[in-house]
Amino acid sequence: MSNYHIKHLEEYYQVYRKSIQNPDIFWEEIAEEHFVWRKRWNTVLEWDFSKPEIKWFKGAQLNITENCIDRHLRTRGSKTALLFEPNNPDESTQHITYNQLYKRVNQFANVLKDQGIKKGDRVCIYLPMIPELAIATLACARIGAIHSVVFAGFSATALATRINDSDCKLVITADGSYRGAKTIDLKTIVDDALKHTPCVKNVLVVKRIGSSINMQTNRDKWLQPLLDNALTECEPEIMNAEDPLFILYTSGSTGTPKGMVHTTAGYMVYTAFTFKNAFQYQENDVYWCTADIGWITGHSYIVYGPLANGATTVLYEGVPNYPDWGRFWKIIEKHKITQFYTAPTAIRALAKENLKHVEKHDLSSLKILGSVGEPINEEAWHWYDTNIGKKKCPIIDTWWQTETGGIMISPIPYATPTKPTYATLPFPGIQPVLMDENGNEIKGNQVDGRLCIKFPWPSMARTIWNNHQRYRETYFTAYKNNYFTGDGALRDEVGYYRITGRVDDVIIVSGHNLGTAPIEDAINLHPAIAESAIVGFPHDIKGNALYGYVILKETGTNRNHDNLRKEINQIITEHIGPIAKLDKIQFTSGLPKTRSGKIMRRILRKIASSEFDTLGDTSTLLNPEVVQEIITNVL
Ligand code: WT7
Repeated sequence: MSNYHIKHLEEYYQVYRKSIQNPDIFWEEIAEEHFVWRKRWNTVLEWDFSKPEIKWFKGAQLNITENCIDRHLRTRGSKTALLFEPNNPDESTQHITYNQLYKRVNQFANVLKDQGIKKGDRVCIYLPMIPELAIATLACARIGAIHSVVFAGFSATALATRINDSDCKLVITADGSYRGAKTIDLKTIVDDALKHTPCVKNVLVVKRIGSSINMQTNRDKWLQPLLDNALTECEPEIMNAEDPLFILYTSGSTGTPKGMVHTTAGYMVYTAFTFKNAFQYQENDVYWCTADIGWITGHSYIVYGPLANGATTVLYEGVPNYPDWGRFWKIIEKHKITQFYTAPTAIRALAKENLKHVEKHDLSSLKILGSVGEPINEEAWHWYDTNIGKKKCPIIDTWWQTETGGIMISPIPYATPTKPTYATLPFPGIQPVLMDENGNEIKGNQVDGRLCIKFPWPSMARTIWNNHQRYRETYFTAYKNNYFTGDGALRDEVGYYRITGRVDDVIIVSGHNLGTAPIEDAINLHPAIAESAIVGFPHDIKGNALYGYVILKETGTNRNHDNLRKEINQIITEHIGPIAKLDKIQFTSGLPKTRSGKIMRRILRKIASSEFDTLGDTSTLLNPEVVQEIITNVL
């Protein structure tokens, strides 16, 4: 896979132009050169956004695990595929080679078959970040079963909803999980969920923490004895290009999660291509993405993308602050990590801590730093650049979504000059457009609008499980013949994109359009402030006014609040203008966040508007307890 590295900006523009002018040829060349196919495609792309219907590599047949595992055995059999770093630093690291991965995936696949799982069946995976999580997803893919990984921090109710929505026959879980100094009884959560899921016939249980758990006769089975008796060869199921590979749930504007369906060939081609170029992967690199496989980032950039490239990919079971806030940096030093991919929320949390945690460790192996999940504010970007990358590592701010399957807008290291807070340029094949409120495309540079994508790309979700209508309404009706991302963006004078946040977070104050992200960025520049969130609340004269929730750093906790409020509005005035000043500023110890680290603005909006009775379900939050604190201290 040598020649799909993009090496300089000129080459990027060349490749980009080709990908737009002749997408069929562009993707066909990549597909031909870098993958193993059982049967070639008849057409590269057929599409119609009005239905919407998107088919990539129609007629082709393949199995993604042959591409992620089998074909590497000859050249990389004894190379580490999965490098497992356990929660407890005293437990030894596991190096799982491609040869071992092959055997373990095949054994697991044979166990699934013995449980009666067939091509097209849905299997729910509810596991901690242990090797079995990656192996279980691959085992499903080996036999053509559709995996639905549910992040193992979701509650029993959330788990049951997802199991029922896609009618899963089998659940794969563990006796428990480690999270820092704590353990979590995963199996108990599964037992609760399964009181409401008649579709589930069997449960396979991985022994991880060794706790005594309830095993329901005939339904629940320990995995290990079954694996021990399973053959290490399992013929891969031959899949059609557009057969579903997995379902992954994402929350929407309504309560019901959306089961985004990703299919086989296009997803494989695009995640492999973007992994290679976004991280400039080289044969001996050790790549680490800190996400959980329960999210799309983990699917695409811990499992499929890296393995399709024959990479060594790290799986870390624990949290950033166990046993202390130096753990990430310790892991980087220990395994000589070359590419490190994490989220702004983690960066900000780490930046709040004493720098001695960073300075203790040798981070000189690092070559590239990545960020994903939300806009990265300027202060966090510089902290990351200075203290982690030592100003030598390009930072790739990668914009994408569960729905897009892979990275859409991102610098390509060494080719694209970076610019703090900018995701910069579209990947080859990606055609972003900005739209105004009336659905007209805004051309030219130095403009902002709603971010749409006007042409299909191989890894886009093809539908919402069992609800194609909702898929169409959510993504393809607001802007005719375009995929609507739900995000706002601006394009600067050279065509770089900056994602300004969800457009539902835009607040109109006195007829002015204000994005929350730029205001928060400005506030976060204040030396005493760790994090902030802005929402709108109804105002008699302005229509909406701004309400800020602000978390102070350790160093700011003894400051006078009224003085701080003045300083915050001073910074906003300086960076955006007096129109963006906050009417109310509440200091708080935390912000309600989703498990993936996103601030739940909906809850903050309701509290700021005194709508305490309609907060909705807060049980899936990372930190539900903070909601009460915020309500108690509301201004
Ligand atoms: C939303 C998608 C992509 C995997 C993790 C999140 C926001 C994501 C960025 C970025 C600004 C970003 C967008 C997007 N987002 N990456 N680099 N800069 N915003 O996946 O949970 O489906 O969320 O996350 O608002 O629409 P997700």
